[in-house]
Order: sequence, then structure tokens, then C-alpha cells
Amino acid sequence: MITVNNRKLSVAPMLDWTDRHCRYFHRLISNEVLLYTEMVTCPAILRGEREKYIGFSPEEVPVALQLGGSEVKDLAACARIAEDMGYSEVNLNVGCPSDRVQKGRFGACLMKEPDLVADCYAAMQQTVQIPVTIKSRIGVDDQDSFEAFAAFIETIKKAGCETFIVHARKALLKGLSPKQNRKVPPINYEFPWQIKQHYPELTVVVNGEIDTVEKAQKQLENVDGIMIGRAFWNSPWLIREMHELLGMKQQTSSRDEVLLSYIDYCQAMLEQGLNLHWLIRPILGLYHGLPGNKKWKSHLVTESPRRPKDVSVIREAREFVTC
Ligand SMILES: Cc1cc2nc3c(=O)[nH]c(=O)nc-3n(C[C@H](O)[C@H](O)[C@H](O)COP(=O)(O)O)c2cc1C
Repeated sequence: MITVNNRKLSVAPMLDWTDRHCRYFHRLISNEVLLYTEMVTCPAILRGEREKYIGFSPEEVPVALQLGGSEVKDLAACARIAEDMGYSEVNLNVGCPSDRVQKGRFGACLMKEPDLVADCYAAMQQTVQIPVTIKSRIGVDDQDSFEAFAAFIETIKKAGCETFIVHARKALLKGLSPKQNRKVPPINYEFPWQIKQHYPELTVVVNGEIDTVEKAQKQLENVDGIMIGRAFWNSPWLIREMHELLGMKQQTSSRDEVLLSYIDYCQAMLEQGLNLHWLIRPILGLYHGLPGNKKWKSHLVTESPRRPKDVSVIREAREFVTC
């Protein structure tokens, strides 16, 4: 099996957020952070417009494709496509609690079917050389004891899985929106930490509410890696700070240099027919916490729909930031 070199730091899969433009931008900030696509369902890949759903730029590598599904054959077919396209990893979503996803019998409700997850894992891993990983919660509904979580991990481990990414809170399948399900059930890092203690041979990556360098350090005393979602979206430069903390390959480009490279990328995308308001979303938080940040954002948000083909909107917005 081919390995992914560095799992210490990754950007979480986030639907509508970590699209290919966002990932391209994050790669400019860190040359080593592991990137994940948004969740893409098997039917979208097998029967949809493949390039639209899972096309990516070679610059994004290492990048993992996150799949949503529970049809063993379809998942194996999608894993093959991912490997052929050059993805670095395939990840199975066992954490999304949305109604739509439950109706399709995938996402978090699969935590109740560890044998099926093990079959899905095995079918995918037998098909490809790149690693197949699982992103789960620590439990679901009243299946929330450590014993149940450990049994879930054990079942999939027996099928050969070596890497588990754990969003360290349970999901409630009824009564909470996906957004509430990322906030209301309490965080419990003890479960993934204990899994790492029980099975030191596994690679365990913790996800959920890690938003400072101090919290990241604490995690890395207990597990192999951290995955961060909302904090990186709100303040993408935090990726660089974490990158440096973790002693990854030194990178010297400044925020402004990263921005200039992204402007070149935007220009190329506009020429391919995209509109600016979609491309500015990942950079809104670039100057988070710095003087002029509010005006930077507001200029981008108001001007990009008015001048959807004019990349100078970004340069003008930069003028408001005084650093
Ligand atoms: C807008 C949004 C979309 C998300 N979409 C996905 C997804 O497609 N697949 C997935 O596994 N998790 C998804 N998540 C959950 C995140 O990957 C992550 O598990 C969660 O936000 C907790 O991490 P954080 O506290 O660092 O944000 C999403 C989260 C957000 C905020």
C-alpha cells in the first residue's frame, strides 16, 4: 500500500466549502497539509459529471477524496476512479448526520453497522494501492459508550483499516440539524485518545473544536494527527501557524505573496468561465484579526457580484488592510 507521508495536519472535508478553489488556496499556504474534498456520493461520481464533482488541480496533491455511500461495489468502483485520477487517499464518511444522507443509508448512521463499514473498507482497499481511511464520530444516538466505539473500531481494524479520523463527539440522528450536530453533542477527546492507547499500531487523527496552537499541541501528545475544519475556514493563515508548529517543511511566502498567487489562479479560472464571487469565499478570512479585515471582507462580498469578471476587486480589497 502507498502511504500518505504526513498525517499530522489536515483540513477537514466541508461540503460547499473545501471545493477545489479552496483547496488550491490552502495548498499555497502549506505545501504539506493534507487536504480533503467535500463529501461526494458514489452516484454523483458514477453517473454524474465526473470532472465537475471530483476534478482537481495537480497542485492540490496530497489530496484525499471523501466518499459518501454504502454500496460495496460502487465504493470500490469510486475508489478505483480516485486512484486513477491521482488522489492520494480515499476516505469514507461515517459522520454526516443529515436526513438526506440517512435516507441513503450512509454517513453517521453507518456507525450502527460496523460489519457493513468493514465490508466497504475491505472492498475499497482490495481495489486500490492508495490508503483507504474512515472518518467517524465517537458514537450515534444511545450507542455512545466507549465499549461500543471500541467495538466499532475493532471490527474495521480487523478488515485491515489502519487509519481512523475521529470527530470526537457523537451524532444525534433525529432532532438536530447538521450544524447543531457539530455543536450540541459535547466533545469527548478521551475516546480517540483511549483508542490510541489500546491500539498504538493504529494511526488516530482527532477532529473537532481544535482552534489554537495550544489545543493542537495537546492533541499531538495523545494521538498521531489533527484535522481542523471551521477554524481554518475562518482564519486560513492558522494553517501556516500550525504547519510551523508541527515542524513541517519550512515555507517562507507571506500572506500577500500567497494572495498574489491566488489572484493569478483566479484570473485563469475567470478565463475558464467562473465568476469571482465563488472564488473569493476561501480568502475572506485571510487577514482575520488584522486592522482593516472588516473592510477587506465587505469590499470582496459587495463588489465581486457586481464585477464578476474583474480580478482587481481583490487587489482593491487588499488596500483596506493596513499591515
Ligand atoms: C460547512 C461544513 C460542511 C461539512 N461537510 C462535511 C463533509 O462533507 N464531510 C465530512 O466528513 N464532514 C463535514 N463537515 C464536518 C467537518 O469535517 C468536521 O468534522 C467538523 O466541522 C468538526 O471539526 P471542526 O470543529 O474543526 O470544524 C462539515 C462541516 C462544515 C462546517
